[in-house]
Amino acid sequence: MKKRFVSMFLAAVMAGTMVAAVPVMAEEATEAATEAAAADVDLSDKKVGVCIYQFSDNFMTLFRTELENYLVGLGFSKDNITIVDGVNDQATQSGQIDSFIADQVDVLIINPVNSSSASTITDKVVEAGIPLVYINREPDADEEARWEENNWNVTYVGCDARQSGTYQGELIADLGLDAIDKNGNGKVDYIMIEGDPENVDAQYRTEFSVKALEDAGLEVNELDDQVGNWDQATAQQLVANSLSQYGDDVEVVFCNNDAMALGALQSIEAAGRTVGEDIYLVGVDALSEALEDVLAGTMTGTVFNDHFSQSHSAADAAVRYLTGEGNEHYIGCDYVKVTKDNAQDVLDMVK
Ligand code: GAL
Repeated sequence: MKKRFVSMFLAAVMAGTMVAAVPVMAEEATEAATEAAAADVDLSDKKVGVCIYQFSDNFMTLFRTELENYLVGLGFSKDNITIVDGVNDQATQSGQIDSFIADQVDVLIINPVNSSSASTITDKVVEAGIPLVYINREPDADEEARWEENNWNVTYVGCDARQSGTYQGELIADLGLDAIDKNGNGKVDYIMIEGDPENVDAQYRTEFSVKALEDAGLEVNELDDQVGNWDQATAQQLVANSLSQYGDDVEVVFCNNDAMALGALQSIEAAGRTVGEDIYLVGVDALSEALEDVLAGTMTGTVFNDHFSQSHSAADAAVRYLTGEGNEHYIGCDYVKVTKDNAQDVLDMVK
């Protein structure tokens, strides 16, 4: 069963009442800490192992920093929180998980390098009797079904990437065909720069951004679709190539995340094109640099990938395993569509 977690941060951004955000965060943390105290669980003694697929990923850096701060705010000791870099290599990460098991950590929070390795990871962590919270890279439905069927202490915390893709498409569709269709062929001519293709975030954002255009009644024409692996420099090169191949026919650049959109923007500018005038550009994550670009008009829009809500939910879920309360096997959150209108609010929050 899917449980939706609507971040209080998010509610505040949407309602334009950002002043409420800080007290709400404190309340959230107090609640989980109170639950632990009521269950007579001393969090300061508990060892938390955190595996991140790759430290150099911009979004996961925001996520892990917030996760650590929030865990400490809950009462965990900083010395007992170990966060390791999987350097985008599953074998490395599997070794790190083995070490955490050998160290008898009390709970594991894992951002898998390959979500397809989740069943192997789950088996060994469950066998060791350690509760497990997956984050950011969602294992497939069969894997999640096993947790439910076996009543294992395993859950996933993340947002539904279909929503982010849909928001990207809507950001473009809302401009209207007349604004987009610079070459007058009656279609939206776009290039797509994808994240890691093994990752559902990349798959769904690619599919649902285009679907949103079609659902809005627009005809689409894919000029190019390339894999940028979430990386700015790679995307910069790919977009430079596409722009030199397809020239002024490129009307829209979809990037599965903001890091790649920032790379795309460098190439768009280098090609003498102007976002908002003769080309449109969208990303996902709401990195602060991207939000500055949205405010300046050099990015059409982005989608806030709420690392506050996701990291807090993951930590709260860890606490609920430690107190014995347990969790549902899926804990969701919402994305927020970001345009010039709300970019400053989101920037104030993420900075
Ligand atoms: C996505 C995020 C990307 C990248 C990826 C890593 O949710 O938008 O920027 O961090 O996760 O799995």
